[in-house]
Amino acid sequence: MGELVRLVYASKASFFPLPAKSGVEPTVARILMQSRQNNSRSDVGGILYFGDGYFFQALEGERAVVNETFQRICADSRHHQVTTLSLKKVPSRLFADWSMKYVPAEQSLREFLGRRGYTRFQPLRFSEEEAESLVQFFEHARDESQSALEKPRRFNLRALFSRKSRLAN
Ligand SMILES: Cc1cc2nc3c(=O)[nH]c(=O)nc-3n(C[C@H](O)[C@H](O)[C@H](O)COP(=O)(O)O)c2cc1C
Repeated sequence: MGELVRLVYASKASFFPLPAKSGVEPTVARILMQSRQNNSRSDVGGILYFGDGYFFQALEGERAVVNETFQRICADSRHHQVTTLSLKKVPSRLFADWSMKYVPAEQSLREFLGRRGYTRFQPLRFSEEEAESLVQFFEHARDESQSALEKPRRFNLRALFSRKSRLAN
């Protein structure tokens, strides 16, 4: 296997956020599902955060695969001002169990930002050190998207099934 790297970037969403369904904004939910599918195939992992209209993402994996994934992400019209904050060779993964962990906006992040003098989430301005600290912070944060992304699908299948059985009767 090639060199293991972690790339951290921030960007600004190009869409107007809609109310979150079960905790995740709908466009972000679609991005997350796409990411999880592709990343588990290419053995890329990481964390995605969306808050105040900004994305913050870390990608971990083999250098060539992370580069290829990042190029695809950069070309995505759902965000702009894609700004690389950190790119490092790393000895091991922080998010080994995640094809893409999702962490929602929460109070403890506000406190993290407050300690660094930020009143809002403005990740395009982060230094490399701030970006790396936030990634470490997210390593221990809870992912709350699992239920939000999986429950509706199970629910829909059941609804489809019951509609079919109603038609059959
Ligand atoms: C903020 C953001 C983060 C994304 N993260 C990933 C990612 O981690 N992995 C991925 O494959 N695609 C990610 N995407 C989606 C890609 O830009 C692209 O739409 C997708 O990889 C295309 O996949 P497809 O060819 O399977 O449709 C992200 C997009 C945005 C806007």
